[in-house]
Amino acid sequence: DEAADLKPRPPVVAIMGHVDHGKTSLLDALRGTDVIAGEAGGITQHIGAYQVTPKGGGTITFLDTPGHEAFTDMRMRGANVTDIVILVVAADDGLMPQTIEAIKHTKAAGVPMIVAINKMDKAGADPTTIRTRLLEHEVIVEAMSGDVQDVEISALKKEGLDKLIEAINLQAELLELKANPDRDAEATVIEAKLDKGRGPVATVLVNRGTLKRGDIFVVGSESGKVRALVDEHGKQVKTAGPSKPVEVLGLSGAPMAGDMLAVVEDEGRAREVAEYRAAA
Ligand code: GTP
Ligand code: NA
Ligand code: MG
Repeated sequence: DEAADLKPRPPVVAIMGHVDHGKTSLLDALRGTDVIAGEAGGITQHIGAYQVTPKGGGTITFLDTPGHEAFTDMRMRGANVTDIVILVVAADDGLMPQTIEAIKHTKAAGVPMIVAINKMDKAGADPTTIRTRLLEHEVIVEAMSGDVQDVEISALKKEGLDKLIEAINLQAELLELKANPDRDAEATVIEAKLDKGRGPVATVLVNRGTLKRGDIFVVGSESGKVRALVDEHGKQVKTAGPSKPVEVLGLSGAPMAGDMLAVVEDEGRAREVAEYRAAA
């Protein structure tokens, strides 16, 4: 892509942290939804992808990730497809094993971090100890004279959320995120499943270009033609541009999370690439 073709795109922000520190609650507070109420045992078991457009600000793409120790691969993937990580730490619980794991994935992916100290409404909230303990993991927050932004919040009481959005916007500005929307799409599979009614379905995040209904594509060792694009509200959309999370229908089979989807010129070419990859 030529520099002149690049247009600003929304930041992709992954919410990471230890189990039950309030990642989904934070997203619910930002979106005005109640996803956590629909989760089995209140445990997130997949990566959710949502767009939020806060009052007076630009659109932000959020990825929710699970904090349960069983889902290391999803946390790693979350850190790898994102521009910014929000590390959620419960103020009454402090740094826990998956907090530290999330820091490692974030550093390995070279992604900037914002620390959100959540549950500040709780009696045992101790943000100072958290800031100090973060030093041991080479995360130096602004309050400790470092350059990692830290924000105290309560997802439950919806407090500190404006400050968090401000911190995200500031970090996003520094990154100058851009992509060319006017080309064949390339997207990353966040998750995929075989749906009883709809067949193979992949949730993808568009990296560049614009994905359209009718586009022919390869993804991993599968291929297909976009039959429908479905947004996070279950609504069909005709196109999905950079940073947009969308469900893709019309696949030959379910790809793997992390696979790249690429639009190609025709079905013959799509089958050829997919067969070559399947044999490799
Ligand atoms: P996993 O996805 O399973 O890792 O959990 P999570 O990090 O998404 O946490 P979740 O949103 O499921 O919240 C866990 C519990 O903490 C729930 O009972 C929430 O109601 C509670 N909670 C979340 N945020 C706050 C907060 O700011 N204050 C208080 N008091 N409770 C909170
Ligand atoms: Na939970
Ligand atoms: Mg959750």
